[in-house]
Amino acid sequence: MPFCKQACHYCDFHFSTNLRKKQDMVSALQKELLLRKDELKNEEVQTIYFGGGTPSVLEIGEINEIIKSVDENYRVIEHPEITMEANPDDLSIKKIKELSDSPINRLSIGIQSFFDQDLKLMNRAHDAKEADLCLNEAKKYFDNISIDLIYGIPGMTNARWEENINKALSYELPHISSYALTVEPKTALKVFID
Ligand SMILES: C[S@@+](CC[C@H](N)C(=O)[O-])C[C@H]1O[C@@H](n2cnc3c(N)ncnc32)[C@H](O)[C@@H]1O
Ligand code: SF4
Repeated sequence: MPFCKQACHYCDFHFSTNLRKKQDMVSALQKELLLRKDELKNEEVQTIYFGGGTPSVLEIGEINEIIKSVDENYRVIEHPEITMEANPDDLSIKKIKELSDSPINRLSIGIQSFFDQDLKLMNRAHDAKEADLCLNEAKKYFDNISIDLIYGIPGMTNARWEENINKALSYELPHISSYALTVEPKTALKVFID
């Protein structure tokens, strides 16, 4: 879902910060799901993954429309794992509750760091407090949560990375992904580093 509220300084994924075409994107995705259904006609769909950009900018109605198209066109098992990548600033208490009432049953949350200093440097749209709040709230409604963390951030010491890991472990989540910060060409981070 190639839309983001704000551009993170390190990111070279394809996305737009203008959300005007979101519904067009949902419609295009539904068309593509229909057009390509024969490609998986001999397969069972066991997992569905909403990747970004930032799929958590979708309204629940839009998420349901996409899942309905998958159900209508593919052989989906009875209880598929359905993951959505989500950014902490989208995960209000209300949104988490709505998501838990939808078919989404796994969240992959882009925490990146539990420290404001790192989050500011990366131009993330959330702060450390929101990272904590949304994780505490998400845990009330979802058993299956994964978080993303980034290490190798300029100015980040080994001690701070260790604190990040310990904090992540304290949530007792089933999965943690950690990425080495990659300096991609034509990003704000690249200009900053050079
Ligand atoms: C599809 S992306 C973004 C998902 C979501 N929009 C977010 O920001 O949380 C998945 C993950 O890739 C990682 N990532 C993106 N660009 C990166 C980079 N240049 N270096 C290291 N990790 C990166 C981040 O941890 C991010 O959460
Ligand atoms: S890291 Fe996520 S929120 Fe940030 S610009 Fe990339 S896709 Fe968007």
